Amino acid sequence: MASGAQMTEEGKRPKSELGGVVVIDFGGQYTQLIARRVREQQVFSAVLPCTSKISDIAKFEPVGIILSGGPSSAYDEGAPTCDAAVLSMGIPVLGICYGMHWITKTMGGKVVPAARREYGSATLNVAEERQSPLFHGLPKAVRIWNSHGDHVVGLPDGFYATAHTESAVAATEDPVRKIYTVEFHPEVRHTDQGTELLRNFLFKVCLAEPKWNGAAFIEETVEAIRKKAGIGRVICALSGGVDSTVAAVLVNRAIGDRLTNVFVNTGLLRKNEFEDTLAMYRERLGLSVIGVDATDRFLKQLEGVTDPERKRKIIGNEFISVFAEEALKLQHGEAHGEIEHLVQGTLYPDVIESVSVKGPSATIKSHHNVGGLPENMPFGLIEPLRDLFKDEVRRIGKELGLPDEILMKHPFPGPGLAVRLLGAITREHLVTLREADAVVIQEIRKAGLYNKVWQGFAVLLPVRSVGVMGDGRTYGLTVAVRVVESDDAMTADWVRLPGEVLERISTRIVNEVPGVTRVVYDISSKPPSTIEWE
Ligand code: XMP
Repeated sequence: MASGAQMTEEGKRPKSELGGVVVIDFGGQYTQLIARRVREQQVFSAVLPCTSKISDIAKFEPVGIILSGGPSSAYDEGAPTCDAAVLSMGIPVLGICYGMHWITKTMGGKVVPAARREYGSATLNVAEERQSPLFHGLPKAVRIWNSHGDHVVGLPDGFYATAHTESAVAATEDPVRKIYTVEFHPEVRHTDQGTELLRNFLFKVCLAEPKWNGAAFIEETVEAIRKKAGIGRVICALSGGVDSTVAAVLVNRAIGDRLTNVFVNTGLLRKNEFEDTLAMYRERLGLSVIGVDATDRFLKQLEGVTDPERKRKIIGNEFISVFAEEALKLQHGEAHGEIEHLVQGTLYPDVIESVSVKGPSATIKSHHNVGGLPENMPFGLIEPLRDLFKDEVRRIGKELGLPDEILMKHPFPGPGLAVRLLGAITREHLVTLREADAVVIQEIRKAGLYNKVWQGFAVLLPVRSVGVMGDGRTYGLTVAVRVVESDDAMTADWVRLPGEVLERISTRIVNEVPGVTRVVYDISSKPPSTIEWE
């Protein structure tokens, strides 16, 4: 797996001796997915912006180069380009979608706008007589996924077509120069046997060796962190979740007690979460952590606030104040050395447009996580997980020996229970929500479902509905139970929990949580709903 992009940009990454692949980013939405598919084959991969210098690409000593897709048309004015020297380095190249169009145009072929944009499934017909190594072992007809508006109508010298769809040339190659192109997306799951095609490129064309794994990632990342941190001190905001924990453990491996972590109790964490997590950090992971209970500050700021976005803003700002105060105390404290860097557990899905910082897709999302600290803090950033997806981070965490209770912990929003307690936040309602949430978690654990679902939790609704308890009429609160499955939180489906589990959750909440008289189950998917209620 690749280590932090920040390190890449500064050219500080140690040379990989493992023979990986460089993915050149033309701004495509699937660029990181390509890199991930390569890593899944245990081959190192790094994403570089298309504006990279050839010397920066060569530093990686790649055995293959993949040119990604992108939103532009090859003939657009200002369409992204990269140094054409990548095509004459003697290293095999695979161009995907825009990558294909760019190669074709750059090498003297012809690309034109298609009569209509091709989006979705199509059938690929492989020209068997060509015996392309890319299609080795694949059937003659393959279902593929397209997303493009251009077509190749003239091939550069030395190229021939190796596959077609009904409407277009879908793959070409020049086996002498080892340049291969496909117009479809082998990296997405909708392309049948896309993985086989990528494997063929890696192992039959590039002769890559499947040596890359979590241990190699850890070793290279720790080394890169050490170099970047130099002799200065580093600070990290822990959130209690898997991302910031894995990031902190990596940095701790690199620089030991020159890393200080801060874990803030916002008063919006789940039942016992602050105490339990703090103990785990210190006792089981050996991290040096300052625990700050700032509950009163947060709740005071949130008094009477009902608008979800205002809640988020207040919590984000308050978090920054608390963190900055702690950093200042440390800076002027006893320990020697200036704090020079800040660790963030940013993952790839938090970064909206891959790493094309100087390339075509420059915008980086200002993530809503309260761990997302402001850019004007006077620290450099260390983001060791920036290229990874959540499941990759969990695998790295496992390799680092982290306990399952942290690795498998469900994602939890930075603003915490504030966005699960609809309307104004009161201490009393926070207690109610915590108790109800604990029941949900306990019951899905007991049913053996906790590790199988993406997220499960309770939401407290501020409406009162009528109920009957004993001989009396009651007007109690309603708890909504939300359990979803998802791969990346971009889409989600509600989990069909067994009736017995729902029944136990409902009975227990009504019996054990004072003030709640009604429990409902959320059966909406994302989209159009979101996972959280606010
Ligand atoms: P939604 O509700 O947008 O949630 O479908 C998608 C994922 O993001 C989490 N989430 C947040 N995380 N700050 C965060 O750090 C937030 O403000 C926030 N809102 C939602 C949510 O728990 C889910 O995993």
